Amino acid sequence: MKVHILKNEAAVALAVATRVTRLLAERPSAVLGLPTGNTPVRLYAELRRRHRLGKIDFSKASTFNLDEFWGLPWTHPASYRAFMEEHLFQHVNLAPRRIHFLNGMAKSAAAECAGYEAAIQRAGGLDLMILGIGTNGHIGFNEPAPSLTADTHLARLAPATRRSNAYLFDGRQGAVPPTALSMGAGTILRSRAVILMATGASKAGAVRAAVHGQVTSRMPASLLQLHRDVELVLDQAAAGGLR
Ligand code: F6R
Repeated sequence: MKVHILKNEAAVALAVATRVTRLLAERPSAVLGLPTGNTPVRLYAELRRRHRLGKIDFSKASTFNLDEFWGLPWTHPASYRAFMEEHLFQHVNLAPRRIHFLNGMAKSAAAECAGYEAAIQRAGGLDLMILGIGTNGHIGFNEPAPSLTADTHLARLAPATRRSNAYLFDGRQGAVPPTALSMGAGTILRSRAVILMATGASKAGAVRAAVHGQVTSRMPASLLQLHRDVELVLDQAAAGGLR
């Protein structure tokens, strides 16, 4: 794992935006895996800014988001789709047909997940997966557990994850759906390159365990140690536990 420790959140966002800008300049039809959450908010703001200035072109790119709450329609303001519309999709020239999202209202979760894996394959696989990390070490909604699911699946959210998503539901943890569709650990590891972004002291313990700890399903981000092209882009606070 390559670890970059930068001064602050703003520097993390700039570094990852530059990586995306370069990728799309070299390979305009690149396939991106994208996260939601607090961590990438500044990244998406920077990508919007660069797009406004004509410095990045998404017209041939494809995107696949990591996850979506099960049981929420895309029109729900707390859906991850709504988040992406607000922070990126409405503001850049991605072709709508190349934006891929898990549908939390699908009739069959299994069929939705299988269809998503097939769509990723048809697109040629992910070129760059951008991840955040949960304070418990989850990536996507792959929560710490005795075993992990390789492919996209219906995942049960850990109590800590429902707590940290409560802000999307007016602070009501009970309103956070108990399950979500998520790319699996294998979906993530099959991406040709992975960037994990982490900012803030609350992530320091998980980052430390992911980098220095054993590879274990109890710390899903530790599985990234198995991948040959992973970069962690951290601010100083998130890197606080590293040796
Ligand atoms: C979001 C996702 C999650 C988040 C993680 C960190 O699509 O898959 O794994 O990346 O929970 O969330 P924030 O950035 O809000 O701390």
